[in-house]
Parts: sequence; structure tokens; C-alpha cells
Amino acid sequence: MTISLKTEVPGPRSRELMAERQAAVARGLSHVTPVFIARGEGAVLEDVDGNRFIDFAAGLAVLSAGHLAVPVVEAVREQSRGFLHACFHVTPYEGYVRLCAALNRLAPGTFPKKSFLANSGAEAVENAVKIARAATGRPAVVCFEHGFHGRTYMAMTLTAKERPYKLGFGPFNPGVVRAPFPYCYRWPGTQDPERVSAECFAAFEQSVRDVGPDQVAAIIIEPVLGEGGFVPAPASFLQKLRAFCTEHKIVFIADEVQTGFGRTGELFACARSGVVPDLMTLAKGLGGGMPISAVVGRAELMDAPMVGGIGGTFGGNPVSCAAALAVLELCEQGDLLRRARALAEKLPGRLAVLRRFGKVGDIRGQGAMQALELVKDRQSKEPDQEAVAAVIRHCYERGLILMSAGTYGNVIRLLMPLVITDGQLEEGLAVLESGLERFAG
Ligand SMILES: Cc1ncc(COP(=O)(O)O)c(C=O)c1O
Repeated sequence: MTISLKTEVPGPRSRELMAERQAAVARGLSHVTPVFIARGEGAVLEDVDGNRFIDFAAGLAVLSAGHLAVPVVEAVREQSRGFLHACFHVTPYEGYVRLCAALNRLAPGTFPKKSFLANSGAEAVENAVKIARAATGRPAVVCFEHGFHGRTYMAMTLTAKERPYKLGFGPFNPGVVRAPFPYCYRWPGTQDPERVSAECFAAFEQSVRDVGPDQVAAIIIEPVLGEGGFVPAPASFLQKLRAFCTEHKIVFIADEVQTGFGRTGELFACARSGVVPDLMTLAKGLGGGMPISAVVGRAELMDAPMVGGIGGTFGGNPVSCAAALAVLELCEQGDLLRRARALAEKLPGRLAVLRRFGKVGDIRGQGAMQALELVKDRQSKEPDQEAVAAVIRHCYERGLILMSAGTYGNVIRLLMPLVITDGQLEEGLAVLESGLERFAG
């Protein structure tokens, strides 16, 4: 058994720290669990009271390679002996170049590619839009309902969900058009992926017609919605979008910040549809726990901004570059992708039995990126956010850290480190099952 609870959860030390947190830290930051963490390893977290948890959140989809993955820690240690920061604009360094070259090699597409490094997913999104506008000379950007792209102004404007991400933060950026996303479970009239795909694409064309395709710089889409509730876009929808972008010379941006680096069983989620994006935004799993993000794509687009037009003080920090190179090596030569595929094969079958709980309306995902959508009843599909909150609480009180997602907050998403052992997976799923038994039966 991995889970070991020595105190009630949250324990006394976590409660003390939470009181200090309330006094010292801005209210607007939310917490999935009220426990303070002292250390992590693989798919296990230990809190400040000595309680051991199984981690099905991976630091919000970051620790795909696990907490303290040995090659990542060694790369960080090694780089820390040389220099911690230099700023690529002041004195360039090899790690930045090597990481860009590796990303260019691994990203889909046989055309020449270039990359740019930043610190967060939101920053990658901002820069992808800047690059697309600079390359096309056009103003508009098309995004999708239920999408999440980050919390900076352009990324927040592109994000769909009002509460809590946008409430009180307007006005937002101009030039953004929002089209429907092919959310099969909630599509009116049909759940058939091909019909949803066709109807949704027709609605997309209508949204773009209003602004005019020749005014559109870019379309940005998550191949599988992350914060929106792990909803995969049907392959045919992505293919139609790709063809539309090619026809109208629009930059196709795949936001793979959450889906990238094995989460879906492939290095990138786009692989399932065979769609090759013009630009891709990457972050989260890339750094193995260190902050880093990237825009990768067609060299001629990436070269559109003038010299000095993109960048930043910290982007592509040398320690983060070293960590990311170690993660890419784990993906390429190590067994991270093999383990991702094994998890991707096992998880859907393992979760299918959870359909027996009446409030489980939908189980879906791509690869290891699986989620359960809870509803008050299957007929009305009324979202049951309260049941999700109760299950998550039940789980952390019993040693499993889980996260919700979805526009209505009624989705439980599984984001375990891809290196989780079979034993830990089963132990975690048993806790989840007991929570569903109690609150979703
Ligand atoms: C698809 C997607 N894009 C962008 C972001 C923003 O990333 P960050 O929180 O690193 O700014 C996220 C974060 O959850 C995401 O899931």
C-alpha cells in the first residue's frame, strides 16, 4: 500500500500553514486540496504532517515523468553548477539552441521548423498569436467554446469560461471570434462524432464568415480540451479545420500545453487525427517540473517577427532547458512513451466499469487523458458540480489527490504521472471508486 495517513487530512501542520497562507497570500488563488506538500517521488506526494498520497493531478498535468524524475533532477543539478541565468538576449547559451532543435525534430511536419522558448503556457499562447499576426498581417483570431489558453490578457480573452477566469477582468482584447467546439456529449440532437463534427464545422464556417477568412490570422484549438473537461475533438473536425486554414492561408495553432509529451499516449495529441499544425504551443510536461514553454512551428512563420520583437528576460531559462532536454530524452530513448501507451491502453477499460454509477454521464478522453462527467441524471444531463466536489474531498481525505475540470465544474479528470506503478494506479482507482459509490451512485 502506498497511501499512508498518520493524521486526519488536512493535518495540524497543514492547517497552521493554511492559516498563514490566508493572511499572507492573495485570496484569488484556489486550492484543489488543503494539504501542504513536503516532498514527492514518482506518483507519490508526502505532506508536512507525514501523510502519503497518490497523486492523480501531477501538479496540474506537469509531472508526466513523475516527481523528481532522476534524469531531470540530474540535469538540473549539472546545469546549476555552471550558471542559473544569463538571459538568451544578453549572452546566448547552448541549452536553448539544443532544446529548440530537439523540439523542431519532434514536432509533427516534415517542413523546416524553428522554435521560441518562454516560461508558461499562457506566454506561449501570447507569442503564437503575435507570430501569426506578424506573419499574416491580419488581425482576427478564432478560438473555441470551452477552450482554456491561460490567464494573461490575450490568453484569457481566448479562454471561454467566465467564472472564475474572466469575471471582473474585462475589457478583453479585440479581434477574437469564438466558434463552437464539437463537444459530443452535450451537442444538441446527436452524439454521433461524425454528425457533431459536420454540424460544428458548419457553425464554425458561419462564425468565420462574419469576420471574413481573409481577416483571420490564426485559429487556436486544443485537440483535446484540457480545463474544458477532457473532450477530444473528432479527428474529422480537426482535419476540416486544417483544410480550411490551408485554403485561406490561416495559421493553424494547436494548443498542446496540456496534451503534449505523452499525456494522450502519443507525443502530441494531433497525431491521432494526422493533422499537422503550423504552430504548436507547449509547456507543462515539457519541463518535468521546471517552468518552461515553447512555440514550435513552420520556420517562415516563426521568423516573421522582427529581431527583438519576441523574447523576455527569463524565457528558456538554462536550468529549465536542461530539465526539458532530459524529459525529451526520456520520451525518445527512455520508456516514458511506452509507459504512456500502456496507461493509455489500460485506463479506458479500467474506467468503463464506473458507468455503473448512475451519476456518471460520460467517460471519455484520449489515451491516459481520461475523465468522468457527473450529472444529476442521465436524461437531463444537468451538471452535478456538487457531486464532483464531494468525490474529490472524499478522495483527498483518503489519500488520493484528484482534480475537477469542465465548463460546469462537473468533470473528474485523471492526470496521474505517466510513470505511476500498476499498484498505485489500482490503489488510487479504488479510492475513486469508493467516492463514486458514496456520492455518484
Ligand atoms: C491548453 C492550455 N493552454 C494554456 C494553458 C496555460 O498554461 P499556464 O498555466 O502555464 O500559463 C493551460 C493551462 O492549464 C492549458 O491547459
